[in-house]
Amino acid sequence: MARKLAAGNWKMNGTQASLTEATALAQAFPTSNVDILLCPPATLIAPMAAALKGSAVATGGQDCHSNVSGAHTGDISAEQLADAGATYVITGHSERRADHSETDADVRSKTQAAYDAGLMAIVCVGETLSQREAGEALKVVHSQLQSSLPADIDATKLVIAYEPVWAIGTGKVPTLDEIAEIHADMRATLKTRFGADADAISLLYGGSVKPSNAAEIFAVPDVDGALVGGASLKAADFSGIVAALQKA
Ligand code: PGA
Repeated sequence: MARKLAAGNWKMNGTQASLTEATALAQAFPTSNVDILLCPPATLIAPMAAALKGSAVATGGQDCHSNVSGAHTGDISAEQLADAGATYVITGHSERRADHSETDADVRSKTQAAYDAGLMAIVCVGETLSQREAGEALKVVHSQLQSSLPADIDATKLVIAYEPVWAIGTGKVPTLDEIAEIHADMRATLKTRFGADADAISLLYGGSVKPSNAAEIFAVPDVDGALVGGASLKAADFSGIVAALQKA
């Protein structure tokens, strides 16, 4: 059985003052039967990890470089994230793929770097609106998933997030059947690669998840949690999503 995970992605939002949202979240869930994660901007990783130490809420990065160190101005390595207290990192988010032209090969090497640094990698895949409208969603996600996984990774260190690009920050969500179709195909693809270990890989849905739609999304087969943007910024909103996952 895959572990359940409620992951928040703050993107380029938040300052030191926002750390109170993280501590409020930790206070709301002193213990948890599901994993809870916040991925703040890089400037907040170390202080957030320190503030959440010993709590049920983990801290993660939103991206990492594929190298351990070197002349890469502005970039952060997986080792540096781990050193700052992160235990997870998101790789291949569609905003990285779009804004920074990241390819599946880039995502693959970043995910390898995450694994080498001992981090859990949350590898993101998802189709654009035009790909969905052309009936290519399944094909696109299938191919992205196969091409974004490195050769040397253990199923226990991997999380996959299906995030249709057109559903991110738009309030639009695929139908539950559409989510089920993609998640079933992802599980099958992972089984081909990892065998029975694939059952332990958490498959997240992401894109306009809110407290009001979380429960029905979590009831979809092979949905083990969510990657949440906007609704993870406030502890009050994210708590509703975590609570829905705890009941799922
Ligand atoms: P959203 O973002 O919840 O604001 O739609 C999801 C994501 O990009 O991870």
